[in-house]
Amino acid sequence: MAEKQGFQRLLMRRDQLDCMRLDASDTVPEPGADEIVLRLDPFALTTNNITYAAFGAAMKYWDFFPVEASGWGQMPVWGYADVVASTVPSIGVSQRYFGYFPTATHLCVRPGKINQASFRDDMAHRRGLPDIYNWYQRTDQDPFHAAEIEPLHAIYRPLFITAYSLADFLHDKAGFGAQRFLISSASSKTAYATAWCLRQLGDRELIGLTSDRNLDFVAETGLYDQALSYSNLKEINASIPTLYIDVAGNPDLTRTVHETLGDRLVHDCTVGSAQSQRPPAAPVDLPGPRPSFFFAPDHIARRHQDWGVAEFNRRAGQATQGFYRYVARPVKPLLTITKIDGLAAAEKVISAMLTGRVDPREGHLINP
Ligand SMILES: NC(=O)c1ccc[n+]([C@@H]2O[C@H](COP(=O)([O-])OP(=O)(O)OC[C@H]3O[C@@H](n4cnc5c(N)ncnc54)[C@H](OP(=O)(O)O)[C@@H]3O)[C@@H](O)[C@H]2O)c1
Repeated sequence: MAEKQGFQRLLMRRDQLDCMRLDASDTVPEPGADEIVLRLDPFALTTNNITYAAFGAAMKYWDFFPVEASGWGQMPVWGYADVVASTVPSIGVSQRYFGYFPTATHLCVRPGKINQASFRDDMAHRRGLPDIYNWYQRTDQDPFHAAEIEPLHAIYRPLFITAYSLADFLHDKAGFGAQRFLISSASSKTAYATAWCLRQLGDRELIGLTSDRNLDFVAETGLYDQALSYSNLKEINASIPTLYIDVAGNPDLTRTVHETLGDRLVHDCTVGSAQSQRPPAAPVDLPGPRPSFFFAPDHIARRHQDWGVAEFNRRAGQATQGFYRYVARPVKPLLTITKIDGLAAAEKVISAMLTGRVDPREGHLINP
């Protein structure tokens, strides 16, 4: 039933993310009753995955793909996988799915709720975790799927859906009265996807805040009215009511933003933690509004209620296509995708990401 190739997974020390080890076995997982085994190819790596690991304990990201070795975990990733073995009558071998996986060659899941386009993994350990991570989308039933967009989709999908939801949330809240949005780690995919979505809604002036080395890239995205380096933040015109979209998650930067903008800072929306590998301590004596965490799955669940899942998927799918056209533009595309083989190569990419040594123009796909 199972294919002949072996099984491998990349384990990470939960308390020391740069400590990783490969775990290999000749035995590929076999499905039990009502289970299927998926073979990954490819999965994407971006800083978002590092944040899953960094917040692994606080937000239960380690709980999705637990391992028996104490103190170790599997960092969650997004990608594609083909069914290689199945004991579920309605799910056949070679069906292809997009979803949430561990850094491994294979994953065994137990499809509980199954419909034409997707299924939900109902393994006991995943119950009670945010539902959105437990669904797997069948590619041949997705009206927006095409083989040629798979690489972009693997990389951007979780980030774009956050960006889309965040822009929708801020638009719905009339930007909390801001005339201007300031976005940190503006070179990150989540940040510039948010900028793209805000532009579709005709929203406010956008300032992209970034490191000196990524300043040119942020300007080249064409999505910000201004690219501003962290070192020049104090030069910002502090008289304009501003909303801060914090993707960097750097407490020192947060303090500088709050102190510089003073009472002109109308809202601090914490989205990411690109520059930090641990959950931030609660800020003490921070002037201005208390940072408020934006968790995309919560907003998506709300929109599923408001619009229905199908309508949400239709709107988000259409927006996604427009965004992909923008990033894959023929002249100076925003992303160059590299596909590499093996989990040992994935370990190298993760190590580079942990130390911020990744060019924002690069997108990484791993064939484990
Ligand atoms: N709240 C949610 O629901 C949600 C959903 C999706 C993503 N996010 C978060 O958004 C953040 C960005 O994720 P992404 O995948 O879009 O990132 P990405 O595209 O891989 O971002 C790369 C950028 O992040 C900054 N960065 C990354 N690692 C760094 C390091 N070690 N030191 C200093 N700077 C570093 C740099 O930006 P600069 O030089 O411009 O600072 C870098 O160019 C993550 O923290 C992710 O978890 C949150």
